[in-house]
Parts: sequence; C-alpha cells; structure tokens
Amino acid sequence: MKRFKIILICSLLAFLVSCSQLQAANSGQTLLRLAHNQNSEHPIHKSLTEFSTLVEEKTGGNVKVVIYPNGQLGTEREIIELTQTGAVDIAKVSAGALENFEGTYSLFNLPYLFDDKEHYYQSMESSVAEEIYGLTDEIGFIGLTYYDSGVRNVYTRQTPVMTPEDMRGLKIRVQPSGTAIRMIELMGGAPTPMDYGEVYTSLQQGVIDGTENNETALTSGKHGEVAKEYSYTEHSIVPDILIISSTKWGRLAPEEQDAVKEAAEESTQLHKKLWAQETESAIEEAKKMGVNFSYPEKEPFKEAVMPLHKQFENNPETGEFYRKIREEADGS
Ligand code: GCU
Repeated sequence: MKRFKIILICSLLAFLVSCSQLQAANSGQTLLRLAHNQNSEHPIHKSLTEFSTLVEEKTGGNVKVVIYPNGQLGTEREIIELTQTGAVDIAKVSAGALENFEGTYSLFNLPYLFDDKEHYYQSMESSVAEEIYGLTDEIGFIGLTYYDSGVRNVYTRQTPVMTPEDMRGLKIRVQPSGTAIRMIELMGGAPTPMDYGEVYTSLQQGVIDGTENNETALTSGKHGEVAKEYSYTEHSIVPDILIISSTKWGRLAPEEQDAVKEAAEESTQLHKKLWAQETESAIEEAKKMGVNFSYPEKEPFKEAVMPLHKQFENNPETGEFYRKIREEADGS
C-alpha cells in the first residue's frame, strides 16, 4: 500500500514537474510548488495563499508559488523528504516533524519552553530561530519563516484531563517526535505517535483515547465530532516552519531570494492576526459540536515534564539555544 502510494505521488510529481517546466519555459517564470497537510479552509492555507500573492507581487510575476494542500503530496515526513530531493520546492511543516531531520528543532517541541505568546513570538523572531533555519542546508533545505500554530492542549473522547493522574492509562496520539513521546510519558499517559491524517479515524475507532493539538483541529480537522473533552493543559507552542529546498533556493537570483524571504516574513505577521480570529471562531464552532472546554491547573503538568528541561539544557545540540530562550523569559 505504502509502495503504491509512493509510486502514485512520484508519478503525480513527475507530471506536475513536466507541466510546470513547460509553463515556466514558455513564460520565463519560475514556479515553486508548495505542499502542506491542512485543508483549504484552514487559516494556514489562507496565509500561505497570501505568501504566494506577495511573492508574485514582489518579483513582478517572475516567481509564482503553486500550493498543494490537504497532504495530497504526502505526510509531513514525506514532503520534507521531497523537499530534500527538490521534487517539492517549499513545504509548511510542524517543528515536530522537523525534529527527525535536525535534532535542534526538538527545542521548539519542548513543553513549557515558552512562557506565553509574547515570549514565543519574540524567540521565533530572534537570531535563535534564524540560526536554526540554516542548520539543514547541508541536508537539502533551509527555513524561511515560522507560522503560529497555536497552543497545544490535550483532548480526549470522554475524559477531561484535570491532573496528570487523569492521563494514566490513556492512549494519547502525539506527533512522530521523540520529544512529544517523552512529554506524554512524563505527563502520565501512553503516547501513540502517528501522522495527523490518521488521527480522526483513530479517535473514531477508539484506537486512541485522545490527542493533543490546537483548537482548529477540532473543527477543520473534525476531531470535535468524536473528541468531546478539551482541556487547557497549554503544554506547548510548537511552530509551523516554512522550508525551501536548498537547490531551488540556490537557483533564485539574489533579488528573488530577498523577495521570497520578505514575503514569507510578511505573511507570518498577517497570519498572527488571522490565527487569533480563527481560533476564536473554532472555539465557538466546537462548542456547537458539543465539545466541553476545561481549565486544569498547569503547575502539576509543568512539574512532571521538568526532567526534559534539564535534558535539553545539558544537550550540546540544544543547550545554548535553550538558555538564550529561557534567559529572555527569566530576564537574566
Ligand atoms: C498542527 C500543525 C500541523 C501538524 C499537526 C500535528 O496542526 O500545524 O502542521 O501536522 O499539528 O499534530 O501533526
């Protein structure tokens, strides 16, 4: 089945590549294929569409971004791999997925790393993030910008999670990320890593008891149809990252690179506002779907995951970045 899927994606890509090369050859325009895993109603798709418009405007139409949403070109892992080979030019993926390609990205998956949204925005717009974006050039891609993907909370089919004890025995889906797996273990649950695209069916069939994500997953991802208890553990703020293939980047003229980078950063700012509005709407819509929202005390969850902080501080890959981010918050 997996082999069939890979062959199908490769044939589709070969077709798309030949079409886009033809078109590009005709018009002298460079086409950039951008893949992501959310549907076209999701706020991230709207912000990526804005990115695409800005790129076209800023390059006077010389560079055009074509978006493939809905995971139609593959899971996050697959589209990162396709970006490495240059079959996909740009991908919007979670830092959770990037952790498997460059360990430093695991930092952004660390629970309770950021104190609040302000601290998160400040860190993501500092030299720390910019340095991390460059680390993957050798393995075929670089980061361009980040997008707010909300605060992640635990939600289950029927059990509100008010304390770490409530997590005991619950199978909780996590992103395929070592940090997320360890986090749920420390919080008391049984982590089940899987791709985002499989979560709805797994909740429906009871393969998992719950998962953790932002509120848009309840509505746009339809999880709220089957998961009725959303608990604000507010354990992590994992950014989405926009990555571009190093080969494609190298082929853009310096002024085109500047335009793409600027467009990316501008769309990040626009996305912040859109995200806030759409999160509010998602909460209202989820309530209508019968989802109940609870507000547990966060301290016991924070205490439970503190061993991970020590580990990140002592790890040579993440230690320096971890300290810089924490110093901002602690004011030292
Ligand atoms: C967020 C993120 C997605 C990711 C998903 C997940 O919604 O924006 O990129 O796939 O989390 O939990 O896998």
